Amino acid sequence: MTDDVKFDNAVEEFNQGVVQEVHSIEDIDTASDFELKHTPNVVIEELSSGQRVKVTIGLKGISHPQTEEHLIEWIRVFDGSEPVGSVSFGPTDTPEATFEVKRSSDQIIVQALCNLHGLWEARV
Ligand SMILES: [Fe+2]
Repeated sequence: MTDDVKFDNAVEEFNQGVVQEVHSIEDIDTASDFELKHTPNVVIEELSSGQRVKVTIGLKGISHPQTEEHLIEWIRVFDGSEPVGSVSFGPTDTPEATFEVKRSSDQIIVQALCNLHGLWEARV
């Protein structure tokens, strides 16, 4: 199965409600290492035409594994409710991605899917 097919399947499952719960951190100061390593880290740079959104996975220097058994399968970004883009990853990839956003809403939503621990989200 190719990464594209795996990604399409994951999105289809998500859209069908198979992945129902979206995890996010309420308070970074009290978050567990488990929560920190799954949460998208989002850095936004201003551009003349919008914003550049740089995404890595994990906060406070705690990174998520990327192996055959346990990995980040994809990252995707929304500008409010508008999809901006998505990138899928295999076990030999580094789960990070950069997106350019025109910015038509007041919130950027970044989601990442762990194959074992579900969907994680950051809103900036
Ligand atoms: Fe995980």
